[in-house]
Amino acid sequence: MADTPTRPRDLNLDWGGVGGRNWVEAQDLLDQTFGHLEEHLIATLASGAQARVLDVGCGTGGTTLAVARRLGVRGTCVGIDVSDPMVTAARARAEKHGAAADFIQADAQAHDFAPDSFDLIISRFGVMFFDDFVRAFTNLRRAAAKGAELRIIAWRSARENPFMTTAEQAAGHLLPNLPPRGQPGGPGQFAFADHGHVHGILEESGWSGIDIRPMDFSCAFPESDLARYISLLGPIGRVLHEADEATRAQVIEVASAAFQPYVDSAHVRFTAACWLITARA
Ligand SMILES: C[S@@+](CC[C@H](N)C(=O)[O-])C[C@H]1O[C@@H](n2cnc3c(N)ncnc32)[C@H](O)[C@@H]1O
Repeated sequence: MADTPTRPRDLNLDWGGVGGRNWVEAQDLLDQTFGHLEEHLIATLASGAQARVLDVGCGTGGTTLAVARRLGVRGTCVGIDVSDPMVTAARARAEKHGAAADFIQADAQAHDFAPDSFDLIISRFGVMFFDDFVRAFTNLRRAAAKGAELRIIAWRSARENPFMTTAEQAAGHLLPNLPPRGQPGGPGQFAFADHGHVHGILEESGWSGIDIRPMDFSCAFPESDLARYISLLGPIGRVLHEADEATRAQVIEVASAAFQPYVDSAHVRFTAACWLITARA
């Protein structure tokens, strides 16, 4: 008898399925919106350095490729991600651009990295989805060389990022299967909202010199991409394809209206309220 595919417990964490496929489809939009954040992750990396860099939760590899470009032929750059569709897309991109980046498809909290093998570990929004944060950051610390730097960008709270929940607040009631946001501190987009919680995780995982500072990034994408943004991203993007055509159209209409305060000169503009988290192994 054929296996019946099971629906994941929390669709917001379904990076191997609909979440990953949607991110691949939205890759250009996400790169355009968040591409400028990568500079803050590679700021300490000298051009042409010999560093070995790991990008955690690398997704479709935008940041990984930025690192590879910065390092040139002297360094090495590896992206790790649990999602098959996203790693496949990242590998294809690297090949297309002739970039010297390698990708591992694995769970970063359990992957058996060679010890002391990275000088810099970075992540753009890729470390908030682990089941066990201390296990994950302990595993990453073991993979880091002594004194290696950790540089992460993660979201602050949902309250400080009202843009991020606009669609579900306006149109979520139209979708009975909408996956609820996770518990505070549990895996999910806003898992790192609480500064003290993040500090505790890193300390318990053996990182030192921990610095967690707020950074506000101005982000924008063309208004013509708003419907695509609503359809593919966030909790709505996880279930919209299950709705009938009329419901889908209504969701887009209602959510688009709710985003109008963010529209200016044919662009959707918002502030990403984030933490820049740094530490040393
Ligand atoms: C919000 S996306 C960010 C992707 C990418 N860093 C970017 O900024 O475009 C989160 C990424 O974390 C990955 N991820 C989630 N859990 C993971 C795990 N346990 N190990 C490795 N990657 C994971 C997801 O597959 C997804 O690509």
